[in-house]
Amino acid sequence: MFGRRTAPAQPPAAPASKPAKPAAPKPAPAQAKKRPADAPAAPPRVAAPAPKPSEQPVEIGGRSDEYFQTKTTIFNALIDTIDLSQLAQLDTESAAEEIRDIVNEIISIKNVQMSIAEQEALLQDICNDVLGYGPLEPLLARDDIADIMVNGSSRVFIEVGGKIQLTNVRFRDNAQLMNICQRIVSQVGRRVDEASPICDARLPDGSRVNVIAPPLSIDGAALTIRKFKKDKLRIQDLVNFGSISPEGAKVLEIIGHCRINTLISGGTGSGKTTLLNCMTGFIEHDERIITCEDAAELQLQQPHVVRLETRPPNLEGQGEVTMRDLVKNCLRMRPERIIVGEVRGPEAFDLLQAMNTGHDGSMGTLHANSPREALQRVESMITMGGYNLPSKTIREMIVGSIDVVIQAARLRDGSRRITHITEVLGTEGDTIITQDLFVYDITGEDDNGGIIGGHKSTGIARPAFWDRAKYYGKEAELAGALDAAAE
Ligand SMILES: Nc1ncnc2c1ncn2[C@@H]1O[C@H](COP(=O)(O)OP(=O)(O)OP(=O)(O)O)[C@@H](O)[C@H]1O
Ligand SMILES: [Mg+2]
Repeated sequence: MFGRRTAPAQPPAAPASKPAKPAAPKPAPAQAKKRPADAPAAPPRVAAPAPKPSEQPVEIGGRSDEYFQTKTTIFNALIDTIDLSQLAQLDTESAAEEIRDIVNEIISIKNVQMSIAEQEALLQDICNDVLGYGPLEPLLARDDIADIMVNGSSRVFIEVGGKIQLTNVRFRDNAQLMNICQRIVSQVGRRVDEASPICDARLPDGSRVNVIAPPLSIDGAALTIRKFKKDKLRIQDLVNFGSISPEGAKVLEIIGHCRINTLISGGTGSGKTTLLNCMTGFIEHDERIITCEDAAELQLQQPHVVRLETRPPNLEGQGEVTMRDLVKNCLRMRPERIIVGEVRGPEAFDLLQAMNTGHDGSMGTLHANSPREALQRVESMITMGGYNLPSKTIREMIVGSIDVVIQAARLRDGSRRITHITEVLGTEGDTIITQDLFVYDITGEDDNGGIIGGHKSTGIARPAFWDRAKYYGKEAELAGALDAAAE
């Protein structure tokens, strides 16, 4: 049992631990039906505005006001009783055991009337507050939640099944929220305060965290967590969800396998990283792959993988390692394929160079709402990177490097779909020519607001990467998938 505390109360420290193959010749673009990049035949823009959060908060372990009052009384008594600095030295289990003993004692001394179930819930909540991430714990424990978004102490939203919902989860006040943000970022050796109010971090389970604190965020700290899914979605899951048709999945498999340079484009949370992860599943086990990410999210199954992660500057503004540094360095590491988690700046240039200098089959994701916009974004990233190249040269470079753009989107009903598989064919004058192989066609809406539609092939029988598929012995499978999709 702990004596009365001897040191001033400090926010408790977080528990230490919670847990060579020759490059295939690049075939000349096939003589397929061409469509100029700005031809009007583009399918409807399907990237939808963010789904509206439902008005009624979802109950997460519903608690009454009375419960919160009791909890505050007991919590305050506990803080007066224990020595937090000593508690911080124990492992999580023993610390929880100590808290349990003391709380039970407080309950009997204060003669609080509670059922066994309530008492258990209270103990769990208090342990979460002292040792874990407080009110966030029940949300972190759920694997069906994709994102947790905290807008100040009293509004916590979650994304489940593509829909954003308000929850009844609350923090005691903004101070408790800041305390928990601090606890999260301290795990990666960082601080978040008025002096450095923006911080990216990662939870021990791999979840990606961003904190932006007051005064920049006006109504209390804003905390955003992209939950790490232990069981990543596989291509078969995407087929089961209707995100892609079985034939479309086959075409993606061939693209991944035949070392076709690929960009995955999509809006925020549209499933780009998930799709990239699926695409890496088609890479042969004897290839040397190097991944570059801001926060390691990809889970490659191949044995020969080097994983690299960028580093933000330290408090003195030094030590930053950018995505561009990583991609440049990759080229000296004898990669066969380079996978870039998210292309958002001048590294676009280095990735394109890698793509057309023998690192075929390299891949990356970027934020854009259509394949064409994705190519425009690559061009503007290179222009803004200060390379001083004429735009014709940049476009030629794009065309010479990127073979396919796959577009992911979250539709207005919350569902995620692969809306385009588009080839980059060449240039005509100053215009990049693209050709859709697969598109998702929206045909209507069901009674529950669900979108009805289907994936169809656009009737291209011989995509530009046909010769390449042939080189890898996949042309029959490719023809089969395209034929089946055209029916
Ligand atoms: N096809 C899909 N069907 C259902 N859920 C999906 C699908 N693709 C991705 N998800 C889920 O959506 C969430 C966001 O996915 P992901 O991280 O891949 O998106 P993203 O586009 O990379 O996001 P960001 O722009 O934030 O990097 C994850 O929880 C993921 O499991
Ligand atoms: Mg992502």
